[in-house]
Amino acid sequence: MDSLNNRTALVTGASSGLGAEFARQLARRGCHLVLVARRADALARIASECESQGVSVTVISHDLSQQGAAEALHSEVKSRDISVDILVNNAGFGVHGYFMSQPLARINDMLALNVVTLTQLTQLFGRDMVERGHGHILQVGSVGSFQPGPLYGAYAATKAYVLSLGEALACELRGTGVTATVVCPGVTATEFLDSAGQDGKMSFYQKMVLMQADEVVRQGLEAMLAGRPAVVTGWLNKLQILALRLVSRRFAARAALWGMRLD
Ligand SMILES: NC(=O)c1ccc[n+]([C@@H]2O[C@H](COP(=O)([O-])OP(=O)(O)OC[C@H]3O[C@@H](n4cnc5c(N)ncnc54)[C@H](OP(=O)(O)O)[C@@H]3O)[C@@H](O)[C@H]2O)c1
Repeated sequence: MDSLNNRTALVTGASSGLGAEFARQLARRGCHLVLVARRADALARIASECESQGVSVTVISHDLSQQGAAEALHSEVKSRDISVDILVNNAGFGVHGYFMSQPLARINDMLALNVVTLTQLTQLFGRDMVERGHGHILQVGSVGSFQPGPLYGAYAATKAYVLSLGEALACELRGTGVTATVVCPGVTATEFLDSAGQDGKMSFYQKMVLMQADEVVRQGLEAMLAGRPAVVTGWLNKLQILALRLVSRRFAARAALWGMRLD
């Protein structure tokens, strides 16, 4: 395992799922942490797990879907004199169901978190990294970044944005010492499906491709450290993305609708 001794990583959405696992695996590599999410109690629990690895952990409870959240977080981190070497833009959520039936307020919050705050954090912390001449930016995309996602239409569109921005950045940042990587997980065992409104139900496709968070995070961190622009986690997900190159987007959308119907 590569050492990240005395580096500092800021992980958004670190109170559960992939974010909590990013925190654990980064701590095991000797990386100090800034953990951000809304649930302070859950963040405190993850923080004490990570501190047992001998790293220092700062917890910041913040709602990142609020306007101005990125600037406020960046200022708070600066005021604590912390330099962020690794930004893990992980916080995000989906909204499940037919788009026309989805609550607009929930879609607004999702766009604010998955797209607006992610973009602003990338620029604010990314500029600091470029000035220092080193750093890593890791964005969490999705298999949904690659295709239209019926029943997760607006969510998949946010993840298409994340992949597009991330790959463009990886190209622009060449030679700066800063890398940009997008990790694209498929369905992973976290709180995601419940918070999206699937109410404990999963489709046959979702059960078939389900991965565990530790493996997704391991593959994401390896890709980041290798400076790869993007990685799709898991061989079944990789196969799906390869297959997409052989069919029309219209067919891919119809197949996705079929695959996402719940049991
Ligand atoms: N699990 C999957 O199947 C899957 C597949 C592909 C991509 N992803 C992506 O993976 C990332 C992590 O999701 P997960 O699967 O780990 O789901 P999760 O267990 O639900 O975690 C989501 C995290 O985001 C945080 N968050 C949500 N709203 C927030 C807000 N307004 N402000 C700050 N933090 C907020 C949550 O913390 P609080 O509630 O404490 O704020 C939580 O820590 C997301 O970007 C998701 O889109 C997940």
